[in-house]
Amino acid sequence: MIGIIGGTGLAALGEEPTLAADSADTPFGHASDLPRRFPGLPNAVFLNRHGEGHTVLPHRINYRANLWLMNELGVDAIVAVFAVGGIGRSLGDGDFVLPDQLVDYTWGREHTFAGPGNFLHVDFSEPFDARLRQTLAKSAGRIGLDLAGGVYGCTQGPRFETAAEIDRMERDGCTVVGMTAMPEAALSRELGLPYAGVCLVVNPAAGRGLVSLELADMQKVVADAQPTMRRLLVDFLQLVEQPV
Ligand code: HPA
Repeated sequence: MIGIIGGTGLAALGEEPTLAADSADTPFGHASDLPRRFPGLPNAVFLNRHGEGHTVLPHRINYRANLWLMNELGVDAIVAVFAVGGIGRSLGDGDFVLPDQLVDYTWGREHTFAGPGNFLHVDFSEPFDARLRQTLAKSAGRIGLDLAGGVYGCTQGPRFETAAEIDRMERDGCTVVGMTAMPEAALSRELGLPYAGVCLVVNPAAGRGLVSLELADMQKVVADAQPTMRRLLVDFLQLVEQPV
């Protein structure tokens, strides 16, 4: 079973989801929301990382509870869906990116399950799982979607970046910027769950566009891209069912 973690756009994945758990409580506190299943997608469970009505900001998300809950439900892997700003000059609104690396600029988040009695130093050289990425790329090919690779730079938020910060991130090798891949990816690794992400570019990063960054414009890009995101995920869920 695949755990899919995403933002509000997930609501558009299907009609009338059913609850996949009775409670969002975990030893690490409450998860963002109750996980859900959609009719017709039996091998997936979905979690809205910003909670009901998009109320939980990126730096306030309880990433540990979210990952713990998904793991408790027995998922074999996590596919994350992100809205991001485009740093790479060739990226435009509505483009999809399949990141192969990340740089973490977040701070102060509860970012590990390690602690007394749980001595953990996980290898994180390759934060995104190669096999999941290959399957996502294959699905993109099957639905005719251009899915470029890239480097995800994760910032703390909730404010957007300054233009100079984006210039620095570009020098660091980042091609997209978002606020939620970390510590999600690292916690997934600590639990032994393969993790990959699909990014939707919803704006040119700070200083890259002619206009200021407006949430409403980004939401419109998300809404317009919903059918494509759904096709990609549905095809991916069919592909992972097939033996290799
Ligand atoms: N920066 C950080 N996070 C984002 C952006 C951005 O420009 N767009 C969507 N999420």
